[in-house]
Amino acid sequence: MSEHETSPRPSRRQFLQTSTGALVGGSLAASLGMARSVHAAGSDILKVGLIGCGGRGNGAAVNAMNAEDNVRLTAMADVFPDRLADARKVLQGQLQGKYTVDDDHAFHGFDAYKKVIDSGVDVVLLCEPPHFRPAHLRAAIEAGKHVFCEKPVAVDATGVRSVLETTEMARQKDLSIVSGLCWRYDYGVKETIKRIQDGAIGDITGIQENYLTGTLWHRGRQPEWSEMEYQMRNWYYFTWLSGDHIVEQHIHSLDKALWLMGDKTPASCFGLGGRQVRTDPKFGHIYDHFAVCYEWPNGVRTFSYTRQMAGCYGDVDDYVFGSKGQAKILKNEVNGAEKWRFTGEKPSMYDLEHKALFAGIRSGKHINNGTYMCYSTLMAIMGREACYTGQNITWEQALESKQDLSPKAYEWGNIETPQVAMPGTGKLA
Ligand SMILES: NC(=O)c1ccc[n+]([C@@H]2O[C@H](COP(=O)([O-])OP(=O)(O)OC[C@H]3O[C@@H](n4cnc5c(N)ncnc54)[C@H](O)[C@@H]3O)[C@@H](O)[C@H]2O)c1
Repeated sequence: MSEHETSPRPSRRQFLQTSTGALVGGSLAASLGMARSVHAAGSDILKVGLIGCGGRGNGAAVNAMNAEDNVRLTAMADVFPDRLADARKVLQGQLQGKYTVDDDHAFHGFDAYKKVIDSGVDVVLLCEPPHFRPAHLRAAIEAGKHVFCEKPVAVDATGVRSVLETTEMARQKDLSIVSGLCWRYDYGVKETIKRIQDGAIGDITGIQENYLTGTLWHRGRQPEWSEMEYQMRNWYYFTWLSGDHIVEQHIHSLDKALWLMGDKTPASCFGLGGRQVRTDPKFGHIYDHFAVCYEWPNGVRTFSYTRQMAGCYGDVDDYVFGSKGQAKILKNEVNGAEKWRFTGEKPSMYDLEHKALFAGIRSGKHINNGTYMCYSTLMAIMGREACYTGQNITWEQALESKQDLSPKAYEWGNIETPQVAMPGTGKLA
């Protein structure tokens, strides 16, 4: 069994805290009867459907096709027809004979994901903006598909509880969920964290997470776009779609802190954040910096910093402090009683996650990364809400929060732009 299969399941207490136990029982009863196709022989073709045909979606399709010979990209979905058409051209060129998406298997619109799931695929790649992940993942697992699921998996606690439930459903149906938290598949990072967990720097006494980067893309505004279209095209800048950058991007760092702590969840957090440079209304309402301190029940703290600003100090790494030394995770360095640096091979971690997914499907030892991807998503949401509200937030408060950022309807037209969150003026719902 790989370490991914042994990732901790939520304890009964944790699982029931999500108030989902009873729901899981109900929805599973309805869906467990579905027969799942068996691919153990390795000679039959695995058909793959892509949902969300942007930068990462195109990349994930290539990674999936690199996993083995007997895979084909057979269906694609994007909410926008132009994005779909562009991706089709790119992937046809890149994938050559492994690209078999004809016009009848290329879908657009808000319900395009369902059409891909119902098109006879075996595996679905979920690479749309994070808001849609809980519903799309649920639909894929209910339909008996194996899933590659990009990070983060939700933008609010309602979404996280849904994904926890779907994760359990996938376990019971023996379906794969491989997470796009790609560092968990990187050889150098895996070996560095293993050495720390084997005691190379003694007990962990503290962690510092830096994700300090520059600015990102913006896709402009066309006069014919409705506000919904504007927000969907510029999804990064709207918390209901992206979760804000602490959730969308800094989750990679928070996931490594969670992993270092044995996938045990923090007890509470508080933080500071705001919107200092990226203040133009075109940037929606997200912040441009966050600093969050997470505390675990054993007193260990993670001090996490993330910023998206041009012209500032940049650094992306994880600093681990121990009773007998220190380590830098992305630099793959451990400085304890002996100094060590990873010097092994470094194949693409993006390819590795797909190789693991397809090997699991072929062998029947299906990978399910669902629990940690939910926990790191909730860690990020909890940090965001601590900064937005200015309050100290416990894990239980975060998990039980009723926050649901979904719009009233998924249709082109008008939609409100939320106010920029002002700390000290509200509480987590
Ligand atoms: N693991 C990584 O290192 C990594 C790197 C980049 C992005 N990502 C993640 O991948 C996801 C996509 O990011 P991206 O950079 O490709 O963004 P992108 O904007 O380039 O692509 C997203 C695509 O999804 C489409 N889309 C939006 N709503 C949809 C819906 N309801 N159904 C179908 N398609 C829909 C958009 O039109 C767009 O084409 C995000 O969750 C992001 O966090 C992960």
